Parts: sequence; C-alpha cells; structure tokens
Amino acid sequence: MTKSTRLKRAYVETYGCQMNISDGELMEGILANDGFEIVEAPEDADVVLVNTCAIREHAENRVLGRVAQLNGLKRERPDLVIGVTGCMAQRMGETLFERAPYVDLVMGPDGYRGLPDALENLEGYRSDRGSNSRIRGPQLAILDLSLGENYQGLEQRRTEGPTAWIPIQRGCNHRCTFCIVPYVRGPEKNRNPLEILNEVRDLTSRGVTEVTLLGQTVNSYTSMDLSFPNLLSEVARVEGIRRVRFTSPHPNDVTPELVEVMATEPAVCEHLHLPAQSGNNRTLKRMLRRYSVEVLLEKVELVRAEIPEIALSTDIIVAFPGETDEEFRDTLELMRTVRFDEAFTYKYSAREGTPATRLPADEFIPMPEAQVRLEELIEVSRGIQAEINAREIGRIDEVLIERVGRYPGQILGRTRRNKVVAFDGDSERIGCYTHVGLERTTGATFAGKETSQPELVGQS
Ligand code: SAH
Ligand code: F3S
Repeated sequence: MTKSTRLKRAYVETYGCQMNISDGELMEGILANDGFEIVEAPEDADVVLVNTCAIREHAENRVLGRVAQLNGLKRERPDLVIGVTGCMAQRMGETLFERAPYVDLVMGPDGYRGLPDALENLEGYRSDRGSNSRIRGPQLAILDLSLGENYQGLEQRRTEGPTAWIPIQRGCNHRCTFCIVPYVRGPEKNRNPLEILNEVRDLTSRGVTEVTLLGQTVNSYTSMDLSFPNLLSEVARVEGIRRVRFTSPHPNDVTPELVEVMATEPAVCEHLHLPAQSGNNRTLKRMLRRYSVEVLLEKVELVRAEIPEIALSTDIIVAFPGETDEEFRDTLELMRTVRFDEAFTYKYSAREGTPATRLPADEFIPMPEAQVRLEELIEVSRGIQAEINAREIGRIDEVLIERVGRYPGQILGRTRRNKVVAFDGDSERIGCYTHVGLERTTGATFAGKETSQPELVGQS
C-alpha cells in the first residue's frame, strides 16, 4: 500500500562493497514494497538515497562531493529529499547535516526497515508547514544499531540477471584495529538458514544460476546448529544452482570442513578470497588480525592441497602505523610466496574511533612514503598476476556470460576461477554458459574465443 502522498519515485545510488550493493537492493525492495517506483536517475526521483561506504577517507570524500552535486537538483526542485544511508551515514551521524546542510535524512545500516516511515515523517512535517519546503528541515537521523536486525522477511529488489548477491550475515565480531566496520555495522548477526535457502530456490525459479553469499566474515556464519560449511553445501545442492561463491572469509575460519565442502560440492567455484592484510607478524598482531603469517600459509597449503585449481585473491594494507620498511618487505615476500591471482591493495587510512588511530602520532607514515610502498606492492602483485595469467593461455574454461563488453559485438563472462574473459558473441546470450578458449591476456583480464566444450576424459 502506498503510504506517502507525494514522494513516489526513489533513486538509490550505491558506493562501496558487495554488501553495500546488496543493501542498495534491499532499500529498493523495501521502498518498492511501500509503493515507490524505483527510477534509474536522480533527475527522475522525489527521493534520492546515497548509500555510502566509510572504509577509507577517500570513499567518504567522494560521497560528500556527490551529495553537493545532488544539491544542484534540489535547488531546482526544493521538494527533493536527499538521504545519506549506510556506513558513512552511521559514522558521521548528525555531523553530516553540518557538512552537508541540504541532506534531509541520515540513516545507518540497521535502519532500512524504517525507511518508508522516515520518509513519511519528513513528508508529513513538510506538508504541515505548507508546500513551501524551502524552509529547511526537518532533518532526520536514524542511527540505532540493533543486535537483532538481519532484515528477516524483507525482499531485495534485484535486477534481472544470472547472478545474485545473498547477504547471510551482517556486522562483524572482530576488531581489526584499522577497521570501521564493527562500529558502523555492529556485531555479527546471522540470517535464518531456511530463509536463505528459500531465497536461493526462489532465485533459481527466476533464472539465477550463480549466487554469492555475503558477510563481513562470511565463513564464521552459524545459525540453528548450521555452520558455514553446512550452509554452503546446502546452497550448492539447490536444484538449478550451478555456481556458488562467497565473500569475504576470515582466514581463521578457513577450516578443513570448509575446504572439504569447497572441494567436493561441484557448484562451489574454485576461487577463494583470503584477505591477508600484511605479511609481517608484528603488524598482523598490531592489526589484531588474530593469525600469523605461518597460519595463513598453512591455510593456503590446505586449500591448494584439496583444490589444486583454486584461484586465490587477497586484500593488503600498506603503511599501517608503525610498519617499518622491513616489515613492508615481508608483505612483498608473502606475495611472492603465495602468488595470489589478484590483490586488492590499499594505503592505510585512519578512521576516527578505530583503535589504530590511538597509536603514537610519530608512527603514522607520511603519505608520500605510503604511496611509494603501495606502488611497489602493486608492481609486484601485478607482475605475479600477469605471469599466472600468461600461463593460462590455451586453457578452455567454462564461462558464464554476464554482460556486454566494451565494443559492439563483444560480451564478457567469468570463469569459475573468477577470471574475466571478453569474446565475440551475442548479448542475447547473457545468462548462458559456454566454453571459451583463453587466447590473450592484458595481465588482469583475458580475450578469447568461444569453442565447443572440451572432451571430458572418461565420459562417454
Ligand atoms: N571483512 C570485510 C572487510 C571489509 S573492508 C570484507 O571484506 O567484507 C575491505 C578491505 O578494505 C579490508 O580487507 C582491508 O584490506 C581494507 N581496509 C579496511 N579498513 C581500512 C583502512 N582503514 N585503511 C585502508 N584499508 C582498509
Ligand atoms: Fe573489518 Fe576485520 Fe571485521 S577487517 S569487517 S573488523 S574482520
């Protein structure tokens, strides 16, 4: 039922990680269910929600710039409601109104269930004051973190396509000293497995064949006596599911049970994201990552022993406060030892309120030095990636066609090992599986040619 009287069309713009993309779909679902039309451009909307990330300062600055830009629309249409949601909204709270006075609504990641009510309240207040909503306000901040909010019973609005994100866990029980997530998303909350499985079944009936299970430490999931490996194998066995991925795991919960499920369930893809953060034990300890380099290497060995085909990716932070040049070299060493297929690399960014910000001021590494380390790390990791990928030329891999490519007549697909391949083909075939021979690599991605399925040894 439509509650709001004038606010009818909503636009959600999302920044940040997969969990945020998934939250954007959740907000759209909640609003659509309340009678809103979801539109594709802010110009067409009565309500614009900017769904934000707080992980690094850079991400927040981008959003502040974008919100200022959206204020241009508000000058033309003073009735436009601008909301800032997500992690940055939670982190900055009402101070966001000072930085960006044209923002009407600030809502943290646990508030989305109340989105229609909040918009109705804003609307009601405005109509009480007559249609001259040039009078600022009210401004509404919904910032409560809840121990129980896992959005049970609410449906996401998903765009059509062969792949879907499935949040199975919200929040995080760790306290990595650099990380803002536990403060803006609260403690770990796991979703009911029956609801997750129903959702997966429902998605298959709508043509989805690949799902990615999402959580901050997704493999620490546990609910109703079901562990993450249990849930993973249940999801992998849902009829119609051909590929399952999950992100982001915590290395400590990469257990033999999990690896066994990955190795034995045919639908679970041969790709693991293993966020290392650093290759130095003193730094890992000061990051409170709760594992050592040795443990990390054991995990890598375990996974590679059971799944020789596995592709590994990682996250690395350089210039954590107090990291010496020697310690940074340990990270380079880790990269050369493990040889990750892909590395997401970051300069440490101080996040107010996180424990690392309380380290002695003289330990903070000046930006130019951090930049030098980052560039060196990128050079090493890209070099390794290019070597690995060059050796893949000649392989024929199964590819799920996901989207159109950069050139007319080109389509893009992903292999089970998470490698992106461009090849000539008809965009009507998005959602189909095919086989592609890998012919060239740019280092990070591939170009190839569609081919018939390779003969499988032993198959009649
Ligand atoms: N477990 C979460 C982590 C979210 S943050 C997940 O991946 O879902 C993603 C990555 O951002 C982290 O793995 C870390 O490498 C990086 N990161 C987090 N906080 C950071 C900070 N303060 N500065 C720089 N990079 C950071
Ligand atoms: Fe952040 Fe560490 Fe949790 S990186 S999300 S506090 S596992």
